[in-house]
Amino acid sequence: MEIRAFRGSDEAEVLEVWRAAMHADALGEHLFRTKVLLDPNFQPDLLPVAVEDGRVVGFVLALTRQVPLFLQGLEPDKAWITAFGVHPDYQRRGIGTALFQHVIQLLRTQGRKTIDISPYVPNYFVPGVDSRAYPGTIPFLEKQGFRVLYNAISMGADLSGFQIPPEILELERRREQEDGVTIRPVSSADLPELMPFIVRHFGWDWFRHAQEYLLDLFGGVNASQICFLVARRQGQIVGYCQQRLERFGPFGVDPAYRNLGIGRLLLFRCLATMSARHTFFAYFLWTGEDAARLYSLAGFKRRREFAVLHCDL
Ligand SMILES: CC(C)(COP(=O)(O)OP(=O)(O)OC[C@H]1O[C@@H](n2cnc3c(N)ncnc32)[C@H](O)[C@@H]1OP(=O)(O)O)[C@@H](O)C(=O)NCCC(=O)NCCS
Repeated sequence: MEIRAFRGSDEAEVLEVWRAAMHADALGEHLFRTKVLLDPNFQPDLLPVAVEDGRVVGFVLALTRQVPLFLQGLEPDKAWITAFGVHPDYQRRGIGTALFQHVIQLLRTQGRKTIDISPYVPNYFVPGVDSRAYPGTIPFLEKQGFRVLYNAISMGADLSGFQIPPEILELERRREQEDGVTIRPVSSADLPELMPFIVRHFGWDWFRHAQEYLLDLFGGVNASQICFLVARRQGQIVGYCQQRLERFGPFGVDPAYRNLGIGRLLLFRCLATMSARHTFFAYFLWTGEDAARLYSLAGFKRRREFAVLHCDL
């Protein structure tokens, strides 16, 4: 068995291993090219492949920042692993361990101090390891020195026949009358206040995500697939919510104005817009237990749970 850096001609074999090992997260060539090969942080030696019997039988995809994420910078201590697998015919023979040891050694020599699986912005596939789909993977990773930090919950909702319940409409009336809260589709007049608001309260990752949708919305690229709402209280921005196609979120409310129901109003208004556009399903990949309760009020059901893992090098 040989471990070597990825080569362009390995694509088909890596994807075959990916589909067989990460069977619940199959990936097509299109996404492999756009989210892996064209990622400016991608480096072939951090995608080592294991070759046996003349073909690729395993891989690990690790990333470190080569270009800064806005003012979040290069994060020089950090590394991420977003995907890995050994073909089922070759598992339990030490190949996974050899791949991980190889990548851990490489990252150490590059001065990295931590590895996280798999919250890498912007091109993660899933938040972490789905322990139901891959029951052996967490024991394997614990052997490699990783520990579970927390679980991310992924949920989805059927929006056919979606209606805003009367108590939410009532809440909307009350908030408007008592606190001057309004929820409106974003307009260009919001942008000078909105973008600094997003950075201030939610950081550069959320800024990047919002900017991506807003570039399409204001650039007229598939604008009808996007709903972007802004919540104001007495004229000042206090929250926003974004959605494209079936993917809902993120959405956020200024911590000073939480627990007033503003998040709930953003959520229900966005889902109603989606349903009226005949987008009859909504999903997101990542939330915690508290927000999961809010989502379940709107009909979201749990789909998958992902363990986010961390390793100190
Ligand atoms: C995790 C994975 C890469 C391990 O590859 P591997 O080549 O089989 O790993 P190794 O042979 O080096 O190590 C095996 C050790 O891991 C642990 N392990 C592996 N599979 C296990 C299982 N099903 N149950 C319990 N422990 C398991 C054991 O400690 C095992 O040692 P043992 O065989 O002596 O008991 C492989 O199982 C895989 O491809 N899983 C699916 C892909 C995946 O989960 N990707 C992550 C998605 S984000």
